[in-house]
Amino acid sequence: PSDVGILGIELVFPSLYIDQTELEQFDGVSAGKYTVGLGQSKMGFCTDREDINSLCLTVVSNLLKRYNVNPKDIGRLEVGTETIIDKSKSVKSVLMQLFDEYGATDLEGIDTTNACYGGTAALFNAINWIESSSYDGRLALVVCGDIAVYAKGSARPTGGAGAIAMLIGPNAPLVFDRKVRATYMKHAYDFYKPDLTSEFPVVDGKLSIQCYLSALDSCYRLYCEKYQKQNPGAKVLGLNQFDALVFHTPYCKLVQKSLGRVSLNDFVLTTDPEQRKELYPAIYEKYESIKLEETYFDRDVEKLFMDYSKDIFNKKTKPSLLLANQVGNMYTPSVYSGLVSYLISADEDVNKLLGKHIGVFSYGSGLASTMYSISVTNDCTKLQPLLDKLNYVKPLLEQRIKISPQEFTELMEVRVHNSHRTNFEPSGAIDRLFPGTYYLKYVDDMHRRTYEKR
Ligand code: ACO
Repeated sequence: PSDVGILGIELVFPSLYIDQTELEQFDGVSAGKYTVGLGQSKMGFCTDREDINSLCLTVVSNLLKRYNVNPKDIGRLEVGTETIIDKSKSVKSVLMQLFDEYGATDLEGIDTTNACYGGTAALFNAINWIESSSYDGRLALVVCGDIAVYAKGSARPTGGAGAIAMLIGPNAPLVFDRKVRATYMKHAYDFYKPDLTSEFPVVDGKLSIQCYLSALDSCYRLYCEKYQKQNPGAKVLGLNQFDALVFHTPYCKLVQKSLGRVSLNDFVLTTDPEQRKELYPAIYEKYESIKLEETYFDRDVEKLFMDYSKDIFNKKTKPSLLLANQVGNMYTPSVYSGLVSYLISADEDVNKLLGKHIGVFSYGSGLASTMYSISVTNDCTKLQPLLDKLNYVKPLLEQRIKISPQEFTELMEVRVHNSHRTNFEPSGAIDRLFPGTYYLKYVDDMHRRTYEKR
């Protein structure tokens, strides 16, 4: 099969949010810390009515309906998540409820977990299946979903929640480039969830940022190497080879710093002294012997390259940050919410996207990371339907309900209290959910969960 890629993409986010300015006041931190310092405006969250199963049920059911897919035409269903409510039973098996009623039970794939990277691993499994000898001509469905919640304290404003489902198959409008995926994996305790009774992670904030940036350095350099090998005559290299660059987004400010980081990498990779002098007249002398690993927290270097790449950031990356800014870190769906944000930034004008080359950086703590790329088709008849189907996203963001930080804190306490209870019906309000949302109805004495649809 050729042109394997994304045929359809569906997104859900919580109907409730808190305002980050109000959260700054409530937490007693200086004004601007969350909104300017982290670059976040709103944060979506779920009450105890929603769990990872319900989020994924909602997104898959919405996708099947919106794209009019016959469940029997799906041959592989994969889930990437780090929101674990059962150590054995997969979310994928719960999703089978949407398929077996149509007699569709021949579906490979189960869940994949490694922090925010599980969705990308699931996606690669799906692509590999379609390009393999096991492929039977049907489509794959990749689901990533998470509820990102932190204990009270400095990490809490970097939460979020959501789910994304992607329909994967041949002759797609968004095609995965072959032989350029660049991966970097390493053992690190930057963010992990060793307490299986708690939804909250253990986080070493500073280390997580260093891990993220060093993974970006490695993936970007390797991607450039592989890209050059695949395109030996290519004149356009470095950041210029991308029309858009989307990142896993823990918070928007880190992504702006990351684009600066990519531009620093371009500087370091420009080894010819004459070329350096020509491209970077103001700085080439001062930073002649700069070493990447010494600059993770170097304010001067960070500022210099953020300033240097400001226009590129505004053009190539800022459009991908809408959902991250409005909903927060969704964990596994985060980088794909970046892709959705980029697509909807075209306001359904297909000409703004045709033929574009999109770089994607996926990161999951612990750590696993990959940079890869997507080529947008030149055929507007292939792309327009996908764009049209995303026209619900912006209006739905506006239909959300704002909750005060006080009520949010109380609802979080209820979540913590109820997370492993049995014989109980959640208390979160059903009428505050978007219509069509699956919600947790009851957990019985054997921990069996039942769901209903609003
Ligand atoms: N106005 C404007 N900016 C401000 C203000 C203010 N009033 N106050 C602080 N700031 C800036 C700070 O200068 C800092 O920006 P800088 O790094 O550019 O200097 C920023 O706001 C954040 O302030 P810090 O004091 O660094 O924040 P803190 O250390 O309390 O927490 C952190 C930030 C570590 C990101 C925390 O939220 C966290 O642990 N989050 C979870 C981990 C995470 O997301 N890691 C990223 C990769 S791993 C993953 O995806 C989960």
